[in-house]
Amino acid sequence: MDATKINLTDPAFWQGPVNFEAFATLRRDLPISWHDFCEGPEHGMTGFWALTRYDDIVTVSQNSSLFRNQPSTYIGDQSEEEAQHEGWFLNMDGPRHFMLRSVVQKILSPKGVERYRANAEAHATALVLAAKEKGEVDFATDVAQPYPVAVICDFLGAPPSDRKHMHYLTQHALAGDAPELGGPASVASYFKELNDYGTALARERRRSPKDDFVSYLHTVEVDGRRFTDEEIGVQFQLLVTAGMETTGTVGTHMMRLFMENPDQMALWATDPDGLAAGAVEEMVRLITPVMHMRRTAAEDTEIAGQKIAAGDKVVMWFISGNRDETKFQHPDHFHIQRNPNPHMGFGGGGRHTCLGAHLARMELPILAKLTLKHLSRPEPAGEPVYVASRFANGMLSLPVRFNQGV
Ligand code: HEM
Repeated sequence: MDATKINLTDPAFWQGPVNFEAFATLRRDLPISWHDFCEGPEHGMTGFWALTRYDDIVTVSQNSSLFRNQPSTYIGDQSEEEAQHEGWFLNMDGPRHFMLRSVVQKILSPKGVERYRANAEAHATALVLAAKEKGEVDFATDVAQPYPVAVICDFLGAPPSDRKHMHYLTQHALAGDAPELGGPASVASYFKELNDYGTALARERRRSPKDDFVSYLHTVEVDGRRFTDEEIGVQFQLLVTAGMETTGTVGTHMMRLFMENPDQMALWATDPDGLAAGAVEEMVRLITPVMHMRRTAAEDTEIAGQKIAAGDKVVMWFISGNRDETKFQHPDHFHIQRNPNPHMGFGGGGRHTCLGAHLARMELPILAKLTLKHLSRPEPAGEPVYVASRFANGMLSLPVRFNQGV
């Protein structure tokens, strides 16, 4: 394969499972490559540097004064979509980012997320037992996706009747480049609807607070003042978008990995509790639900011998770093006992490292252990459907049947 011909902005590149061979070629022959990019006739031409090696991604990720999250972590040009993200602390740097992040970090700390464990267990149990009862399900839409959707909605304060709609909006917003999910043109409207929903919920909770995150945000002071309803709407929009599809993607691919690696499924079943934490890390490494993040160079600089100009976009392909053969032995293999496993599924270790990682690490072992216990001997019951997105490594459908008691 000729590395110079690999075009990461071509929608055809993102059809079906990720092209790991192409990323391996880039790591070997062209670890930093330029990609021109035009999102559509209404947008100008832009482009970005693609980093595919683990060490280069860590270097950029951990130098937040040189590689900034402002104005946006979105791969494309300044656009209407970016405007929707104004106020996301993901797209901020420095003290303002730190302050807003700290507000959420307190609640999503390893100890903080334990508060939500019983609820997560109840949701996962109901979904897995319903799947067992049916014997054949779409594991993506019947189990793996509804699970984090229910957990996040309860956490934020969105009522059960709105879960399906929340999931529809976040899935379409996050993987908006995928043609089957509406394409980039409609992304801004999904983000706006999420924002409006969060703002309306904040207004309601201001009047009658409950035991949920939106109500909690009304009690917090930042810079000597409380958040407005609109500011809470923005935080709602970020958390709901970041927390649903990502965890649901791991849950769906988990079932695919189980079917492709019955030996690892059998091994895990020998010690479901003891092996769970490591196995989940390995799933996050192999799957990498968030395939990349963008930074912007604050000054002229150099990465891996390549000159980078101030203002250039630099895109860290975590999906490639997680299979870097200089860091991981047999990187394409699913080894639930891989150790060490310094993966970058939650980011490259900088100040923007995933804030929901502890919640995901609490949720996913619960689903995995129930699946191992109740959904024995899974096998494909139809063709899987992958999301054709360059950002979200999701699956829209994974039909599976279980051979109970066989
Ligand atoms: C950021 C992955 C679940 C909230 C990120 C980043 C990645 C990521 C790669 C960017 C890191 C960087 O730029 O250095 C994942 C994966 C998840 C997951 C793989 C599930 C398996 C969640 C959940 C939540 C969440 C459940 C919240 C409920 C966030 C937030 C940020 C973030 C708020 C921005 C942090 C900041 O800018 O300071 N996540 N995420 N994530 N994630 Fe997650």
